[in-house]
Parts: sequence; C-alpha cells; structure tokens
Amino acid sequence: MTIRNITVIGSGLMGRGIAQVAAQGGYKTIMVDISEAILAKAMDNIRAETEKGVSLGKLSAEVREKTLANLSTGTDIEKAGAAADVVIEAVPEDMKLKFDTFTRLDKACPAHTLFASNTSSLSITEMAAITKRAPNFLGMHFFNPVHKMKLLELVKGLETSAEAVQIATEVGVQMGKEVVVIKESPGMITSRINAIIGNEAFHMLEAGVASAADIDKAIKLGLNHPMGPFEMIDLVGLDTRAHILDYLYKTLGDKFRPAPLFLQYVKAGRLGRKVGRGVYDYPSEKK
Ligand SMILES: NC(=O)c1ccc[n+]([C@@H]2O[C@H](COP(=O)([O-])OP(=O)(O)OC[C@H]3O[C@@H](n4cnc5c(N)ncnc54)[C@H](O)[C@@H]3O)[C@@H](O)[C@H]2O)c1
Repeated sequence: MTIRNITVIGSGLMGRGIAQVAAQGGYKTIMVDISEAILAKAMDNIRAETEKGVSLGKLSAEVREKTLANLSTGTDIEKAGAAADVVIEAVPEDMKLKFDTFTRLDKACPAHTLFASNTSSLSITEMAAITKRAPNFLGMHFFNPVHKMKLLELVKGLETSAEAVQIATEVGVQMGKEVVVIKESPGMITSRINAIIGNEAFHMLEAGVASAADIDKAIKLGLNHPMGPFEMIDLVGLDTRAHILDYLYKTLGDKFRPAPLFLQYVKAGRLGRKVGRGVYDYPSEKK
C-alpha cells in the first residue's frame, strides 16, 4: 500500500514535531487540535524550527518550502481522519482521552487507515481493543525534540499484524528515523529506564545527597549521558512524567513509586520548560 496522507492528532510538544517530520518526509500532513489558536502556535513553531534548520545548513530552503506546503491544520478530527492513510495520535497521556479519540477516528477513517499512538506508557493492546482494527494498530513512540531525535520505537500490541509493522517501518524511515520493533511492555525500553533514573534522581535530591545541578553534572560527565536526569525531566514535562510513573507503578510495582519531592513539584505547577519552570528556571520560556 502506498502511504500518501498522514493525520496527526494533537499539536503540542510531540504532535507538531511528528507533523513536521511527516511533511518533511513528503507526506501530505494534517495536524489536528482542539482550537485554531493552538494550531497557529504549532505552525509558528514549525516555521521557526525549519527556518533555524535552513540557517544552520541542516535543511535546504527547497525542503523547507515543500515541508510547509505539505502541512495543513484543522479542528475537525472526523474530516482529517477520513483523508488519512496513517493516523498518529499525540494527545495528552490520558487513557480516557485516547479511547475517545480512537473511537471517533475508528468511525471516521477508511478501513485501510493504520492507527498509531505516540503514547509513552499506555497499553497499545488496550487502545486497539476499543477499535475494530486491532491488527492495524500499533505504537509509534517518537522522542522529543522529534525533528532531532533519531529513534522511533514501534510497539506491537497483542494483535498487531506484520503488515502494520512493515508500513510503520517504511513511514518511520521516510521520516528520517532509525526504527526498533518491540513487544508491548509497560514503558517500552526507553521510558521504563528513563523513569527510574529520573525518580532516583529526585530521591537523591530529597535526601540532600547533592544539588540538582551536581546530580546532572555527575550523570553527564561520569556516565556519558548527553543530558542530566533533571534536564531531561524538564524537557519531557513533569506532568507527562507523572502520568508515566503512575502507570509504571500500577503495572510494574513498587520500584516505580513516585518520589514525594517529585509529586510536590507537580503540585506546585513546576511542569518544566514548557511553563518556564521545572527543576530549573527558564525565564525566557515563561508563559
Ligand atoms: N513530552 C515528551 O517528551 C513525550 C515523548 C514521547 C511521547 N510522548 C507522548 O506523546 C503524547 C503527547 O504528549 P505531548 O508532550 O505532546 O503533550 P502536550 O500537552 O504538549 O500536547 C498535547 C496536545 O493535544 C491536544 N489535545 C488535547 N485533546 C485533544 C483532542 N481531543 N483532539 C485533538 N487534540 C487534543 C492539546 O491541545 C495539546 O496541544 C502523550 O501520550 C505523551 O505521553 C511525550
């Protein structure tokens, strides 16, 4: 099957990046969100990111132009779904919202449309089960920032077909990604390891073992991670991480119990870079 049209649901941190690389890969891409104002902001972001790409010599002006020409936006999920060969969902990490989104899409999309969720931790099998197309459903787990991060984890649910994996692999490669295929398991590879490192870092901060900056410094210089766990958590968003930890705690047990200090940060609204304050302050990004 030739894939031409991709619809991305959600234009937040992840959705706008996924839409950008889809359009850059040559697909006619529709980005859907709940308001025109949110979509306008996402488009501004894509314009700015691709402009930066051109000025850094990472993207040609011609590719940028084609990328922007391939992109459109809308608030009508049913209309955007009806045009899609592949739908990639990137709404917030809330199972009820994902169920609602896929139930609507299942009615609106043609039978051949492949469904993918960008969930960081929720069950693909469970989402697929509320649709009538479980074989045509899988996880496409991108990384933030999507246009820079090479990895794409493809997650097979219980009933995901080999054909669905093949199509998603081709689409992923066309988007410029390196693909790994994994069997569904809470947190997949990366979120599971990442959640435990971040949570342990908060336990250490709470116990006064070292400052946040020194914990980050030690992990970067001693373990050769490109980012420290607190820098990473501020980038991911503390609310998103809270949803992930909550799910891993329920499915994999006590070692994922959220650190009390982490929960306090979430309650304080210190949700990371996107609000201008997380573990660190980002005055220039304050809303
Ligand atoms: N943040 C990360 O680093 C990261 C990495 C990998 C995967 N994910 C996953 O990607 C998903 C999205 O995360 P995010 O960080 O982009 O969240 P986000 O809050 O930045 O963006 C979510 C977007 O979805 C929109 N939305 C909400 N309800 C909607 C609806 N009914 N229809 C259409 N749009 C709707 C919101 O308005 C918002 O723009 C989550 O499942 C998350 O776990 C996040």
